[in-house]
Parts: sequence; structure tokens; C-alpha cells
Amino acid sequence: METFTLNDGNQIPKLGIGVNQVRSADVGPALARAFEVGYRSVDTANTYLNERAVGQAVRDSGLPREEIYLTSKVWSTDSGYRRMSAAIDRTLKRLDTDYLDLLLVHQQYGDYNGAWKAMEDAVGAGKVRSIGISNFNRRRLTDLISRATVLPAVAQIERHPYFQQREQKAFLEQFSTVVAGWFPLGRGDRELLTEPLFAELGRKYGKSPAQVILRWHLQGDTIVIPGSTDPAHIRSNFELFDFALTAQEMDRVTAVDRNKRFHNLPELVERIIFQSMRMDYDKRQR
Ligand SMILES: NC(=O)c1ccc[n+]([C@@H]2O[C@H](COP(=O)([O-])OP(=O)(O)OC[C@H]3O[C@@H](n4cnc5c(N)ncnc54)[C@H](OP(=O)(O)O)[C@@H]3O)[C@@H](O)[C@H]2O)c1
Repeated sequence: METFTLNDGNQIPKLGIGVNQVRSADVGPALARAFEVGYRSVDTANTYLNERAVGQAVRDSGLPREEIYLTSKVWSTDSGYRRMSAAIDRTLKRLDTDYLDLLLVHQQYGDYNGAWKAMEDAVGAGKVRSIGISNFNRRRLTDLISRATVLPAVAQIERHPYFQQREQKAFLEQFSTVVAGWFPLGRGDRELLTEPLFAELGRKYGKSPAQVILRWHLQGDTIVIPGSTDPAHIRSNFELFDFALTAQEMDRVTAVDRNKRFHNLPELVERIIFQSMRMDYDKRQR
């Protein structure tokens, strides 16, 4: 598996599988398939309520822990130093592992600076290898970086051909922060997947539109973590390393940007909803 080198010197697989909104009962079969096909990176989060199932799937794979790259995220209700420290320990317990390869602060709300300090300390304590952010706007990212000792190694942002966030990506790259695109397939949006350009390029390379989109992400120096429980999709989403788009084709994909996001809550509404999402993640695993 090809990797990106992070600003802390660690390596991260360019491709992984995401388990957002995948029920625990479906996590096992999906990850068994993914490990069989060759994936070695899994992206979960406290709020996905399936961390125990991810831990079980890793154990069931029989693969050595160090061969698998595990990412999880702590929600903003566990912001602040003390809550984040406790949340990290609970996350490790649910995933049944001694360390996370990557830990992200999931949202930009609450005391994210206190949370970040706890994450830095977790790196020092060997509980986490790399730390990063998710869904931070520039103002809050600048605030976090101005107080941080460790720069974010990875930033997850919504990114797909209809919502490319090129300025935000360039901003993050100033800090050598690698971008990971969530909703890389626009959540399976039909209009995006049937965009004529992707069918045309797919015909040229003998690939599906989804594979063309995922290849565009990789060539744009973005980590991709497409979500799927479909065995055929899981396999085809992995077959991205035997073709390459030309520079001109990359530009043609850039031209389909519509500034259209699929997650679209105004910030104030988002903050109110997200800050009230107090959950007992241990009990509510589904
Ligand atoms: N940091 C954040 O705030 C955040 C937010 C959202 C997501 N994420 C992460 O990003 C990952 C990816 O996002 P996502 O899973 O929500 O959206 P996505 O990867 O853009 O799309 C997933 C959808 O596309 C379908 N799909 C997958 N491969 C396909 C293919 N080859 N052809 C056609 N359809 C295909 C899947 O259905 P099938 O199951 O039928 O294949 C599923 O409905 C998540 O799993 C999660 O780990 C992070």
C-alpha cells in the first residue's frame, strides 16, 4: 500500500475504509472483506458507535496489530483536557488496543485547545501515534495552531469533485497537514457518480466512475477512506493503483467543482446540535 509521510514523520496509508453509519453487525463482514482484499487502514469514530465491532474485526482478521492503521475521533462533547484524556482511554478500551495510529478531534466546538493538549500528551504517553483535526474552519485552526506544540498531522474535510475545498486544502498544506477527504464519493450521490466525465474516463482506463473519482483524490494528494459494505465495491475501491489520470484529465475533474456540499448545516445550528449530543458511547455501541 502506498503511503503519505506525515509532518510528524509517521506514514499513513493513502487508502483506507470508512465505517461511518455502518452498524456493528455489518462491520465484521465489511472489514473481513476489506482485509482480504488488502486494505490495512480503518477510519471510525466514537459517534459511529461501532468501535467495539472494529476492534473485534481486527482481532478476527488474525493480522498483527502493527499491520493495521486505526483512526478514531473524539466528539466535541468530550472537549477540554480532562474529558478528552478520559475519552482517549475509553476509545482504546472499546477498540481493544494499546494505541491508535491516528486520533482526531472530530469537531471544532467546545474547548478544543484543552482537548488538543490532552492529545499531545497521549502521543507522549504512547497511546496515540499521530494527532489531527476534523472539520475545523480557518479561524479555529489558526487559534489551535497558535497554542499547539504539535501541528495537526491530518485534517479531515468534506471533499469530492463537487466540493473540492481547494483553498482550505492549500491552507492546510502550509502546515504540511495531509488532507483526508470524507464523503469522497459524495455519499454515493447518483448525480456525481453518473457525471459524464467519469464515465468517459472510466471507459478509457477500463475503470468505474467511482474508481476514477477515487484516483483523482489520490493524485490530488488526498487520503481516501470510502465507506462501503458491498463486497464488490470494497474490492473495486481498492483497485486504484494500476492506472493514472493525466494532468489534463485532473484539470477536467477540477472544472466540475460546484461548491456543493452534502453536509450542509449552518454553523450555529451545527454547534447547538453537536454540543448537545451527550452520549454514553460505551453503552450505545450498536
Ligand atoms: N470527519 C468527519 O466528520 C466525517 C464525516 C463523514 C464521513 N467520514 C469518514 O469518511 C468515510 C467516507 O464517507 P462516507 O462513507 O460517509 O461516504 P462516501 O465514501 O462518499 O460514500 C459511501 C456511499 O457510497 C457507496 N459506494 C461506495 N463505493 C461505491 C462504488 N464503488 N460505487 C458506487 N457506490 C459506492 C456506499 O454504498 P455501498 O455500501 O452500497 O457500497 C455508500 O452508500 C466514512 O465512512 C467515515 O469514516 C468522516
